[in-house]
Amino acid sequence: MKFYTIVLSLVCLGLMSTSVQAAGDPVRGKDLAATCMGCHGVPSYTNAYPTYRVPRLGGQHTDYIVSALKAYMDKQRPHPTMHAQAATMTDQDMQDLAAYFSSFPAQ
Ligand code: HEC
Repeated sequence: MKFYTIVLSLVCLGLMSTSVQAAGDPVRGKDLAATCMGCHGVPSYTNAYPTYRVPRLGGQHTDYIVSALKAYMDKQRPHPTMHAQAATMTDQDMQDLAAYFSSFPAQ
């Protein structure tokens, strides 16, 4: 009896996570993006202070954003700031952030 309960809950969990991971959630992504906006804020695409240029994320493809974040996480892309940002993200965080940023119109 107990065994079936465990199997059932595992199956439910599995179903839930596949449906959640199918696509990023832009609403959750917007919450997660609050920190990013300090640097990747529109419209000037520069950090507030000190002033330096950052890449534009709005309208970027989701796959591109996710693979860039993974590259920062793995240090394939060497950038200490973005490594620090990406290091603590889950796959779902990346998907959600990408869904949010890609929802802006490309310019
Ligand atoms: C302290 C400033 C800062 C913060 C905060 C920040 N970024 Fe960045 N980000 C940068 C800079 C600078 C670069 C360019 C790095 C490089 O040259 O590789 C960058 C690059 C990127 C890129 C690659 C873009 C491209 O066109 O190659 C992505 C994707 C990205 N950031 C996403 C995020 C996300 C998502 C967050 C929030 C979780 C975030 N960043 C927070 C400064 C920041």
